[in-house]
Amino acid sequence: MEIRPVTMPQEPLPGDLVAAAVFENDLTPVRKLGGEAERQLSLLAEKRAYRGKAGEVLLLPVPGSATLALVGLGKEQDLQPEKVRQAAGEVVRNAVRDRAAKITFLLPVEPGFALSKAAAEGAILAGYAFDKYQARGEDEPPRFEVESFFLADGEEVGLRTGAILGEAQNYARDLASEPGNVITPESLAGLAREIAEQAGLECTVYDDESIRQMGMEALWSVGKGSKNKPRFIHLAWKPAGEACERIALVGKGLTFDSGGLNIKPGDFMRTMKGDKSGACAVLAAMSAVSALELPMEVHGLVGAAENMPGGDSYRPDDIIRAKNGKTIEIDNTDAEGRLTLADVLCYASDLDPSVILDIATLTGSCHIALGDYSAGLFSPEEGLVKELMEASRISGERLWPFPMDDDRLRRKLKSEVADLVNAGNRYGGAIFAAMFLQEFVKKDIPWAHIDMAGTDNSKEEYGYVQKGFTGFGTRTMLEFLLNRAGKAGA
Ligand code: BES
Ligand code: MN
Ligand code: ZN
Repeated sequence: MEIRPVTMPQEPLPGDLVAAAVFENDLTPVRKLGGEAERQLSLLAEKRAYRGKAGEVLLLPVPGSATLALVGLGKEQDLQPEKVRQAAGEVVRNAVRDRAAKITFLLPVEPGFALSKAAAEGAILAGYAFDKYQARGEDEPPRFEVESFFLADGEEVGLRTGAILGEAQNYARDLASEPGNVITPESLAGLAREIAEQAGLECTVYDDESIRQMGMEALWSVGKGSKNKPRFIHLAWKPAGEACERIALVGKGLTFDSGGLNIKPGDFMRTMKGDKSGACAVLAAMSAVSALELPMEVHGLVGAAENMPGGDSYRPDDIIRAKNGKTIEIDNTDAEGRLTLADVLCYASDLDPSVILDIATLTGSCHIALGDYSAGLFSPEEGLVKELMEASRISGERLWPFPMDDDRLRRKLKSEVADLVNAGNRYGGAIFAAMFLQEFVKKDIPWAHIDMAGTDNSKEEYGYVQKGFTGFGTRTMLEFLLNRAGKAGA
C-alpha cells in the first residue's frame, strides 16, 4: 500500500474513496473537501442524524466520482493517536468492501508526526489478511487490496515511520498465524536469519546441544520432549556510531504449547500455535530497528521450543538448574513459558543492558484478570512502568500494571526441594509468574515484563483489528525505543 501526503482541497476529488474524520457533533472538517462534496455530505449527515461517534461510518456513493465518507473520532477532548488509527482502519476496511483502490483521508486537525503515523499504521494494519492457505475458485477474483492511502496534508516522517511500524506488526501477525507444523524452533531460527540479512543485524542461533552446554537447562528441558528440538536465537542491532545505550528484548517462543505431560484439554490447546506471539513481536520489532535508524544497541532474544508430551519429555517433580544456577522444581509442565524465559533472562542479564523488556503469552490468569483487550505490565521499576504506559498510550496497545510488592505472595515461589517451584499457586497466577521471572534478572538491571496472553489473537474485527493473530506488542516495544531515542515526537 502506497502511503503519502496529498494537498487538499482538490478538484476533482483525488481517489475512489474520500473519507473525512470528524469529531462528535462537529462536521467542520468537511469544509476541506470543498464544493459539492462538502454540501452533499453535510446534508446526508443531517438527514441520517450522523453523530461522529468513535468508529461511526457514513458512506455516500457518488456516481461518476469518488465515494464520500465520514468516520467518527469521538469527542475532541478525548483525541489520542489510537482514535485516528481506528478511524483510518475503519475507512480501509470499508474501502476493501467497496472495492475502492485509492483512498484519501482527511483529519479535522493538522496531522503532525504522531497523527500521521497513527493514520498510516491504521491503514496498513486494516489491509491485512492471512489467507495464503486458502484456495480461490477459478472464477473468483484475487483478494482486493487497497493500492494507495493519501493523508490530506500528512506529515512525511510520521507517515513513513507509521508505515514501518504497521508493516512490522503485520509481519508479526504472519509469523504468529503460521501453524506448528510449519513453524518449528528450527524454522523460526531460519526466519530470524532472514530478518538479520535483510535488516543488517547480527544473528547467532544455538541448537539444543549448545543450549545445554551454555547451562540453559530450563529451556532445554522444555524443548526436549519434542522431535523439533529447541533453538536459542540472538539478534543484535548495532548502530553505526557510538550506541547511546543497550536494550534487550526477550520474547516467549513456544511454537506450540500442548501443555506437555500436564497436557491441556482440547479446547485449551486451540490457538496454542500462537504461544510464540511474544517472540514474533520481538522478531518483528527487530526487523524495524535499522529502518528506524535507532541510535541504541538492541538485542532480540528468543528461546524457541515446542512443549510436547512424550518419552523424552520433562516431568512434574523434575528438578532442573537454570543458567544462573538456581534450581527449579517442576510442579506443572504447562507452566513452561517461565522456564524458557528464565534462561533467556539470565543470558540477557549477562549482556549488561540498561533495560530488559520481555513479552510473553504467559498466563491464562492474566487473560482472566484483564479480558481480551489489555495486556499485563509487571515491573518493580516505577520509571519503567511510566515509560511503557506512555508507549502504550501512543501505540494504542493497552497495558495495565500489576503490583510486584506482595512479599507474602512472593514466598510461594519457594520449593521444599529446590530453590524455586514453577507453579502451584493458583491465585494471583500472573503475578506469581512475573515474580518467578524476576528471579532470573540480575539485580540492578531495570526489567519489565508484558503478559500478552489473550491479546495475542482477536475473535472480532473492528477498526484496524482483523480476526486472528494480532501482532500485539510489536509497536509498543518500538514506541518505547523511539521514545528513549528522543524520536517519538508526540
Ligand atoms: N501459554 C499458556 C498461557 C496462555 C493461556 C496463553 C491462554 C494464551 C492464552 C501458558 O504456557 C500456560 O499454559 N500457563 C498455565 C500456567 C499454569 C499451569 C500455572 C496457565 O495459565 O494456565
Ligand atoms: Mn503452557
Ligand atoms: Zn505456554
